[in-house]
Amino acid sequence: MTRQLHPIEINTKTGEPFLRLPAPHQNIILTPPRQGDQSVLTQHMNDPAIYGWIEGPPVPYLPEHADDWIQLVKEECDATLEYLRKSQEDFPNGPLQFVDVSPVRYLREVKENGEDILIGDVNFKRSPFEEVLDEVERKRLREENAKKQAGDPTIQYAFGDWLAASHHGKGIMTAAIGLLLSAWAIPRMSARHVVAHTFAGNIGSNRVFEKNGFVNRGLFDNGKTVRGERKKMTLLEWKHDQA
Ligand SMILES: CC(C)(COP(=O)(O)OP(=O)(O)OC[C@H]1O[C@@H](n2cnc3c(N)ncnc32)[C@H](O)[C@@H]1OP(=O)(O)O)[C@@H](O)C(=O)NCCC(=O)NCCS
Repeated sequence: MTRQLHPIEINTKTGEPFLRLPAPHQNIILTPPRQGDQSVLTQHMNDPAIYGWIEGPPVPYLPEHADDWIQLVKEECDATLEYLRKSQEDFPNGPLQFVDVSPVRYLREVKENGEDILIGDVNFKRSPFEEVLDEVERKRLREENAKKQAGDPTIQYAFGDWLAASHHGKGIMTAAIGLLLSAWAIPRMSARHVVAHTFAGNIGSNRVFEKNGFVNRGLFDNGKTVRGERKKMTLLEWKHDQA
């Protein structure tokens, strides 16, 4: 199993895959979502310091929203793990097979007694091409990009992330994004073009991407309205050959 998961490790006690952040954040790991994450997720998704900067979550965020979400993201991570398990049987000596998501994405802080708590999420998806102002062209590019096979280096991916407010400003997300890019996205997804779309004024998020080599391409307005408010966005762009 382990070869096709490389460099993801397996927790010997629980069998759960994980990636560990580098020092000084080695007490933080990335794992798949778990059944049981719903209540902590619901707390954070109701925090305006988090939902104010992301598009997805309904407000107020109800337990049934968390149930639906955990089912969705757990299925996606589990399917990727299953594919890699199958690949281990089909290609026991390699080559490593490409996938188009990271099966580990939830940040957990591991306490001294070994218990851990959910503190955030960092993930990739096929890009929504928000920066393309023409709606018809945006849709065309989304569809073309969505059809590409995992491992195609021309796929444009987009990052999404949030972190518990109690943990902001300590360098955690900068480290998590750096790790996911170098340990998973580049070698295991063949990601060569990654973007992030941040709401105007999200200076902290812009900094996280800039510190990871993303270029700030400035503000754009594609007409997006989130919870009744018009949102300008900033495009942050990373290309492998420019890194
Ligand atoms: C954005 C977010 C993920 C950042 O995570 P984090 O672990 O706190 O980020 P880091 O500590 O790694 O880095 C934050 C950087 O922004 C800087 N920063 C934060 N707020 C700032 C502000 N108002 N003005 C200037 N710089 C600011 C910090 O100083 C730090 O930069 P530095 O290392 O150069 O000093 C976190 O704040 C969050 O979850 N916010 C709410 C949800 C969200 O915005 N998600 C992203 C959607 S695109």
